[in-house]
Amino acid sequence: MKIISNVNELKNYLKIQMKTIGFVPTMGALHDGHLSLIKQAKKECELIVVSIFVNPTQFLAGEDLEKYPSRDEADKKICKLAGVDVVFLPKKSDIYGSDEVSLKAPNIRGFVLEGATRPGHFDGVLTVVNKLFNIVNPNYAYFGKKDAQQLNLITLMVKQLFLDVKIVPIDTVRESDGLALSSRNIYMSKEQRVEALKISRSLYEASKMIQKKIYKTEKIKEVMSEILVPLKVGYIEILNRDFETIETIEIGNTIVLVEALIGNTRLLDNIWL
Ligand code: PAF
Repeated sequence: MKIISNVNELKNYLKIQMKTIGFVPTMGALHDGHLSLIKQAKKECELIVVSIFVNPTQFLAGEDLEKYPSRDEADKKICKLAGVDVVFLPKKSDIYGSDEVSLKAPNIRGFVLEGATRPGHFDGVLTVVNKLFNIVNPNYAYFGKKDAQQLNLITLMVKQLFLDVKIVPIDTVRESDGLALSSRNIYMSKEQRVEALKISRSLYEASKMIQKKIYKTEKIKEVMSEILVPLKVGYIEILNRDFETIETIEIGNTIVLVEALIGNTRLLDNIWL
């Protein structure tokens, strides 16, 4: 496995490989969720690149940039065991200059839900993902469905900027008790982790209601918010795959999303129905 920090070195190396490239962009602190992206990439591609870069432009002032978990050595081992071919591990100065061209998230889709709580967050995500795509030039790029809005905006960016990469959405990986895996889960105490289970429980309940053919989204949201008490809920939303609000569940075209604060840890989760 090669570990490369320099942009030109990576570009030159990849240019001569003549292989189908599968790309998994990450901010490190790798867990089984990332591994499931890598596994799928390995099924579909001949050469796997994983980037590890805690992207400063997607953190707002006062967020957890400084304390975001960094475990480069452990991450490299995980990548090696998973059969990754190249780990791209740039420094901030490899990716950003001092006077930057940047992308702006779309005015509507980019500024609801996460974008409303964290205005500017998706500008940073899109800017860095676009840069990484330009460096790696992958055939396929893998993203988790857990960050549904991120996935939606990256898919839109690829379409609108005519980028030549296929975005592959991958199902959320959960602990056996239902908690969705996230690099931020380590911030929670044992008690907070138990509280956090209300999030996945509310989503399972939504799914059960839909199985019982209860399709009115207001009713489902009401039951979910009862389950989520006393958490500080940022939003409970039921949207179609274009991220538009719907009043009635459309099977095969619905995402139920929750964001809640557990202590100082903001958790996201969702189910696709
Ligand atoms: O989902 C993440 O880990 C990040 O937002 C990403 C896509 C690697 C961009 O920094």
